[in-house]
Amino acid sequence: MEKRKKDHIDLALNSQSSGIEHDDRFNYEPMLRRHPKEGDLSIEFLGKRMKNPIWISSMTGGTEYAKIINTNLAKASNEFGLGMGLGSCRALLESDEYLSHFDLRNIIGDDYPFYANLGISQVEQAIEQNKIQQIVDMVNKLKADGLVIHVNPIQEWLQPEGDVLLKSPVETIKEFLDQTQLKVIVKEVGQGFGPESLKALLKLPLEALELGAYGGTNFSKVELKRSMPIVQEMLEPFSKVGNSAEQMIDDINLIVSDSSDVLCKQVIISGGIRSFLDGYYLMQKSQLPSIYGQASTMLRYAREDYEKLREYIQYQIKGLQMAYTYLTLKM
Ligand SMILES: Cc1cc2nc3c(=O)[nH]c(=O)nc-3n(C[C@H](O)[C@H](O)[C@H](O)COP(=O)(O)O)c2cc1C
Repeated sequence: MEKRKKDHIDLALNSQSSGIEHDDRFNYEPMLRRHPKEGDLSIEFLGKRMKNPIWISSMTGGTEYAKIINTNLAKASNEFGLGMGLGSCRALLESDEYLSHFDLRNIIGDDYPFYANLGISQVEQAIEQNKIQQIVDMVNKLKADGLVIHVNPIQEWLQPEGDVLLKSPVETIKEFLDQTQLKVIVKEVGQGFGPESLKALLKLPLEALELGAYGGTNFSKVELKRSMPIVQEMLEPFSKVGNSAEQMIDDINLIVSDSSDVLCKQVIISGGIRSFLDGYYLMQKSQLPSIYGQASTMLRYAREDYEKLREYIQYQIKGLQMAYTYLTLKM
């Protein structure tokens, strides 16, 4: 007790709130509820009941290191009832060499959403070459619930070895949906979607839209870092464009309230979600049922032993429970 009081005196002088760091998005309501016990955060999403509204956003595969990361992420999905999207499974269209890096259903279990991932170019090429069945076979081999298609024209354009799109992504996705029964999620990879793209996407019978918004990991920056110095210097302005998650949620809310032909009714809020408070804020803001997703932040904790990731997710869930109990949004 005495030690605690002394700590308080020593620390209080260095613990002043400042206007700059004030998180002004919330009203704090301390009077109305007791501390949460376990608190049920479960949600029906993508046709399954997740224990927590958290998505592990698509990342990696194809190196030994990726296998360790993916295994840790899959364990977390299973333990905490989270959904998971794989990183690009392009390698699996060619051979089974890396199958074990992606083959995670046995770890995740059948109860939680698990999606394969391909880029829009691979989907465009599969349609062109009449090879859609290869994609269906890959999804089935992984026992995945469906396919995430990432749409990344800027990233492809900045890559020295990048693919050129011959059709608009929306045409390709429409054709793909017409030709398969697969459940499809569409996402960006860190620059989000503007309102016209959102409008086009929400009219498609997608299982969900994942924002992949601007504000976090930025693959244009990643590609520029891999380029020659002249390319970096000339094309760098393109790494600074994009739509933030908050902007996109506002746009989606407007589209949903203005149109009667919205067929895509679930949103994975991702791209620059740094903590449970960002996730909570945007989920509360979203009119469509939503969960939040993280890639790079999960990656930071998934690279070593599982315990680090486990601890991180435990704190995310605790934080979310407190947020639901004591915070409301300032409108
Ligand atoms: C190492 C790494 C690899 C990624 N690979 C893929 C990928 O293969 N397919 C994909 O759709 N997105 C990929 N992404 C993008 C993420 O899914 C996500 O959209 C983006 O990183 C923004 O989220 P964040 O700010 O939480 O990192 C990758 C991200 C990281 C960090």
